[in-house]
Amino acid sequence: MRKKQLLFLCLIGLALWASAGEEALPADAPAELPAEAKYIALTFDDGPRRETTAKLLDGLQERGASATFFLVGEEIAGKEDLVERMAAEGHQIGNHTWSHVRLENPEAAEQEIRMTEETLDELLGENGYWLRPPYGLIGEGIETGVPLVKWSVDPRDWERRNTAQVVQAVLRDAEPNSIILLHDIYPTSVEAALQIIDALQKEGYWFVTVEELLCLNGVVAEPEVMYRTGKG
Ligand code: NI
Repeated sequence: MRKKQLLFLCLIGLALWASAGEEALPADAPAELPAEAKYIALTFDDGPRRETTAKLLDGLQERGASATFFLVGEEIAGKEDLVERMAAEGHQIGNHTWSHVRLENPEAAEQEIRMTEETLDELLGENGYWLRPPYGLIGEGIETGVPLVKWSVDPRDWERRNTAQVVQAVLRDAEPNSIILLHDIYPTSVEAALQIIDALQKEGYWFVTVEELLCLNGVVAEPEVMYRTGKG
């Protein structure tokens, strides 16, 4: 099953759920999706980077896996083709600020967010690109206008730079609806990501975008809310 079909199923499921209203289905009613289906989201921050991101996209395509990329705006120039490829291949694209700053001062933060948003709008069209604040932190009173995405599994791949250790750390902590944090600017992390996909696909996991993961859980993402797992 391709991810487009997954998202379609998800939206149909949500529509049915919404129309059921007060007369919710009994708990023992057949599920919309197979009970054993397990969904998980890989997220990649700080790119794009020419060599590593292209290799990752090849590997994701071979495996029929979707992912979410939180891009640093100033890294996009000269790599627009990679960003267009992400979108064309069904990955979710998000905002990781213009120059990877801590979002503390509201005025500076809003400019950092806006510059990347404008670059993505120009390249891919306006889409309300979701934000992953650098370091997962955002100061009080900073308005983003979009949903925020944190994570539930962090193997500290940027620090380890060791494929086997990153794979082991993720496989230890991953569970259905996890949001996994990785960085596609390191060759060790790209290799780890592909090994993680191979291992978890064998266990019955489907790799979906964060947006799809939330939708599959019936969560409608709202602006200014920080999501850490597929359940919210
Ligand atoms: Ni980052």
